[in-house]
Amino acid sequence: LFAGPVDFVKGVVAMDGLPGADRPEVCFAGRSNVGKSSLINALTGRKGLARASNTPGRTQEINYFALGDQAYLVDLPGYGFAKAPVAVVAKWQALLKSYLAGRQTLRRAFCLIDSRHGVKPVDHEIMTLLDRSAVPFQVVMTKADKLGPNAMQPVLAQVETELQKHPAAFPQLIVTSSDKGQGIATLRAIIANLD
Ligand code: GTP
Ligand code: MG
Repeated sequence: LFAGPVDFVKGVVAMDGLPGADRPEVCFAGRSNVGKSSLINALTGRKGLARASNTPGRTQEINYFALGDQAYLVDLPGYGFAKAPVAVVAKWQALLKSYLAGRQTLRRAFCLIDSRHGVKPVDHEIMTLLDRSAVPFQVVMTKADKLGPNAMQPVLAQVETELQKHPAAFPQLIVTSSDKGQGIATLRAIIANLD
């Protein structure tokens, strides 16, 4: 799945702009700046494919990337704090929620959690929305390179406790670093094995 060509398809700003629901897709959701776009770049091995930046609120559209003609990777705008006007943020948050609740071909949502911060109330809110919409989701810990192995343990315990509250959650967490490559092959294999 990841061996073939990867292409940017389009940036979507409203539900009626979504591409035809003709193939499976997975999406990457999480707070602003958690590392969604960087993770897509790491997974595809294409550094500048999804635009990443240190400014929270970088991704403001739903960006579609095609893996050949087999599947879509979907880069979502972040939730929570963003450096953008309030009205603009409100619009993309509404779009994000409509997408997560109503996309038929969404096979799995990857919920990204910063390894330094753990699950925050806004993450809980999004996970609850996924439960209600029966969208299977899996947590991906990001930026693992930013903390030592001892610091990671309590955060993982907090996330695991949180996941017990969510019927739509997969119990397995994937610990990643887009910078160092940790966990990337594992995540790639999970996506490639979805049908
Ligand atoms: P929004 O589009 O604003 O919601 O952010 P995003 O979740 O797409 O985050 P993005 O990929 O733009 O990354 C945010 C910042 O974190 C950038 O400065 C990245 O370089 C950095 N970053 C992302 N992943 C990693 C990682 O694995 N390790 C480290 N050290 N930094 C990372
Ligand atoms: Mg982004």
